[in-house]
Amino acid sequence: MQLTHATWCEVSAYLAQSKAIIVPIGSTEQHGPIGLIGTDALTATAVAHGIGECNGALVGPTLSLSVAQFNLGFPGTISLRASTLMAVVNDYVLSLKRQGFERFYFVNGHGANVAVAKAAFQDIYAQWSLGNMTGQPPRCRLRSWWDYPQADALRKQWFGAGEGMHATPSEIAMTLHLVPGSERKASPQALAAPTQLPAAFLRDHGGDNHWDAQTHQAAFPDGRVGSDSALATAEQGKQLLEAAIAGGCDDFAAFVMET
Ligand code: NI
Repeated sequence: MQLTHATWCEVSAYLAQSKAIIVPIGSTEQHGPIGLIGTDALTATAVAHGIGECNGALVGPTLSLSVAQFNLGFPGTISLRASTLMAVVNDYVLSLKRQGFERFYFVNGHGANVAVAKAAFQDIYAQWSLGNMTGQPPRCRLRSWWDYPQADALRKQWFGAGEGMHATPSEIAMTLHLVPGSERKASPQALAAPTQLPAAFLRDHGGDNHWDAQTHQAAFPDGRVGSDSALATAEQGKQLLEAAIAGGCDDFAAFVMET
C-alpha cells in the first residue's frame, strides 16, 4: 500500500496491525550520457514498492532530492545540503512517529545517502538519549538495493569492474526496465568503456564521498564514474529488480521482528 494512495482512515487501520513503514530514498542528478536524472529515486521506489507488496507493508513518499553537490556542474542535478537532508529525514520520521509508527526501513538508491541518513538516525536517537523525548524511540534502518546479496551477485557476475561507481550498468539496466522506451543513443566514443577506477580512488571516494562539482566534472566529464553504462539491458534490470526485492523482502521482515 502506498501512503500517498491511502486515506487517513486506512493509515489508522494499518497502524492497528503494523508500526512499520518503508521509505524510498534516492536522488535527482545526472547519470551519464544515457542514464536518467531520476535513476536513484526510480530504482529505490521500485524496490521499496516490491518489498512493500511482499510484506503487505506501507510505503511512504520517496525522498527524491538528496546530497549531490558534486554533480551540480551537470544540467538537471538538484542538490540538498547534507544538513538539509538530515533535517528532512528527522521531520519525516518524527511526523510519522507521532502517529504511532516505530520502525522506518529506508530503501536507498544513492551512495551519498548512506552517511547522511545514518547521521540523521543518530541525531533522532540522541533526542531520546538526552532526555528530550519520552516513550520508546523509533528505529531506523537503511539498505542500498545493490547490497542485497541476491542483487550484488548478479551485478558482479554480469558487469565485474565495469560496474564502477556511478551511472552503473546495474542502475541503468533497472531504469531501462522501469521506464519503457528510455533507451538513449550516444556516440560510440561517449559509450566507450571508461578507465577502471584505481583501488585508491574506490577506497577514498566510496559512498559518493567526492570533492566539489568543478573538480568532479573535470575528472569525469561525461558523468560516469568508472561505470560502463552501455552494458545494461532491460532484461538484466528486470532480474536485478526481482533479486533486490527478494533480498529486501526477508530483510524488512526481520527488521520488523527485531526485539
Ligand atoms: Ni545512481
